[in-house]
Amino acid sequence: MYKNINTALIHGGISMDERTGAVNVPIYQTSTYKQDGLGKMRGYEYSRTGNPTREALEALIAELEGGTAGFAFASGMAATTAVLSLFEKGDRVLISSNVYGGTFRVLDKVFNNFGITYTISDTEHPSAFEKDITPDVKAVLIESPANPLMTVTDIRAISEIAHRHGLLVIVDNTFMTPYLQRPIELGADIVTHSATKYLGGHSDTVAGLAVVNSKELAQRIAFIQNATGGVLPPYDSFLIIRGIKTLGVRMDRHTKNALKAAQFLKAHPAVKNVYYPGLETDSGYEVNRSQAKNGGAMISFELKENYDIRVFFESLNLIMLAESLGGVESLVCHPATMTHASIPEDIRKKVGITDGLIRLSTGIEDIDDILSDLSQAIEKSEVK
Ligand SMILES: Cc1ncc(COP(=O)(O)O)c(C=O)c1O
Repeated sequence: MYKNINTALIHGGISMDERTGAVNVPIYQTSTYKQDGLGKMRGYEYSRTGNPTREALEALIAELEGGTAGFAFASGMAATTAVLSLFEKGDRVLISSNVYGGTFRVLDKVFNNFGITYTISDTEHPSAFEKDITPDVKAVLIESPANPLMTVTDIRAISEIAHRHGLLVIVDNTFMTPYLQRPIELGADIVTHSATKYLGGHSDTVAGLAVVNSKELAQRIAFIQNATGGVLPPYDSFLIIRGIKTLGVRMDRHTKNALKAAQFLKAHPAVKNVYYPGLETDSGYEVNRSQAKNGGAMISFELKENYDIRVFFESLNLIMLAESLGGVESLVCHPATMTHASIPEDIRKKVGITDGLIRLSTGIEDIDDILSDLSQAIEKSEVK
């Protein structure tokens, strides 16, 4: 591992082509490999099992997250699905009360059918979390900050309790990236990513990654990856490697802009609540500061009752209403009807995902343009 992450982002893993000296890893667009005789392979036999471009990305993310091995999948959900496939009928997984809607959905509608159950747990409060650990619980799946209310979980504290009870700790690090937070150093066993977001960084590729911290887990995930087959294609692997090279400079700008946007929203008379762990007034500020470089670039907020959010969304000129996050462009979404629509209304209400909640993925445009777009859209949305 390079000592400095900014260097590792560019030179980590397998970063060039030994044969030709090409400074970028070639796109090995092949499904199979010639064998020199029966059982005489040159290291590869079939691209679901192994592909040099995908392997370069897998080595890179393992190095960046400080894990034993990395795995690249066709989407963030394919990565989560592969990790959840470690469990068996009768096992239970605890999940943070705010997780990406798709993570909830795959547990609720797919794994439930196979007898793998889940409990929503208040991982923000370690003592409440410990009370949820019943004998069938085998793992805890955390997002910190969590999607969409940016609630912060103390990864060190949860890992310590979880390991005392023999659980695996899985952290979805999509919102932070290894540039801002390294969950394995904080005690996690497995880290997952929707690489579709900041790692790819340009809203042009859907991809997922998983990193494990032991040889045993590496063997089990490698088996699942090959057996279930949701692998990332070579060209998409190349695009994610290319995105990661600029992760540091992008995240610096994303997070600088986000802090200014959060301060602007916090001070705005039309705004009821702002959720951003980079604000000193946020309940998650101290814990987040103890485990991450800063508050990231995702902000959620609610406008006061006399503002119409439909008009707000339609009045934005620069910031686009779209699913997803983490691209160079600023995006907003409405979690209740978009990213978290698959969570039943009663659970959404219970965990605080209100119909008025707006989520902002702060891009790297000029901050003055972002703020003036927010400002004019808020102004137009006032019901007079
Ligand atoms: C935190 C988080 N995890 C996982 C996912 C799923 O990733 P993908 O859309 O790449 O399947 C998302 C997608 O929005 C997400 O926001």
